[in-house]
Amino acid sequence: MSRLDKAGHFTLGDRTVRRIGYGAMQLAGPGVFGPPKDRAAAVAVLREAVEQGVDHIDTSDFYGPHVTNQIIREALHPYRDDLTIVTKISARRDDKGGWIPAMSRAELTQAVHDNLRNLGLDVLQVVNLRSMLDVHGPREGSLEEPLAVLADLQRQGLVRHVGLSNVTPKQVADGRRICPIVCVQNQYNLVHRDDDAFIAALAAAGTAYVPFFPLGGFTPLQSATLSDVARRLDATPMQVALAWLLQRSPNLLLIPGTSSPAHLRENLAAVDLQLSPAVVAELDGLAGERAAAH
Ligand SMILES: NC(=O)c1ccc[n+]([C@@H]2O[C@H](COP(=O)([O-])OP(=O)(O)OC[C@H]3O[C@@H](n4cnc5c(N)ncnc54)[C@H](OP(=O)(O)O)[C@@H]3O)[C@@H](O)[C@H]2O)c1
Repeated sequence: MSRLDKAGHFTLGDRTVRRIGYGAMQLAGPGVFGPPKDRAAAVAVLREAVEQGVDHIDTSDFYGPHVTNQIIREALHPYRDDLTIVTKISARRDDKGGWIPAMSRAELTQAVHDNLRNLGLDVLQVVNLRSMLDVHGPREGSLEEPLAVLADLQRQGLVRHVGLSNVTPKQVADGRRICPIVCVQNQYNLVHRDDDAFIAALAAAGTAYVPFFPLGGFTPLQSATLSDVARRLDATPMQVALAWLLQRSPNLLLIPGTSSPAHLRENLAAVDLQLSPAVVAELDGLAGERAAAH
């Protein structure tokens, strides 16, 4: 038992994981490039996450590159049987830290082997194909070729389950004709709600939805309403943002990222926060404010 059980569980491939996990992207250096300032602190954050009951960690070998996975290995290998590490492929970094599409057969195959080596695994539990048709958000277009490569790697036994990231509903529907899709990882949070209908459809299909940037990403969410709600509930704005996601739909699996042990504890404590329907309605209004501002 862990206090994180309070938030419930959901299926991820052939595993069941707790609905609050951890995203490891913040463990690399500034701009997700190079080593962190304090490697020992990064190791400590990961160990504390798992001690507190986190059983789902999101990563990629292009964080660093390689650095984040190597830190995960140093901190947690040999892994607990109940730990599910999810990675993603299809980008590489240039020498200035830029994000370059890497969706050819050779690049995807290399990426799977890089993840296996740096994480110290024989098989990757879940691999997301991250669409790079547009680095900034989902864009229609065929992902058939790269997904077929990932399905081949799955048949070879190097990958257990396949997910998609930064994608549209059509790309998921098309993808399901190539291989089972166990999760979708797209940008979603209190104010970025393009996927509301998509989440409902995935919930009906029993597919996990993993919002990235759950706290707003590189510029964490800031709003007078959010701060006001947090004050009234004796919580922090980030806890309210996470509690809202937990209540939003049962197929949401959270992976808030942090390099700070204090923020990790704060984020995991969001499982103790219950938002009343009136508060949820108030927070729902934030998405409208954003839409009106654009
Ligand atoms: N598929 C994709 O394309 C994609 C893209 C981006 C991210 N991801 C995944 O999604 C995960 C989550 O996204 P993310 O880490 O970029 O963004 P996030 O979870 O929305 O926010 C992380 C930011 O919030 C700060 N933060 C965290 N907890 C806080 C707290 N309690 N109080 C104040 N600030 C806090 C962090 O800084 P501190 O380090 O100072 O706490 C960091 O700047 C990543 O780790 C990665 O695994 C996937």
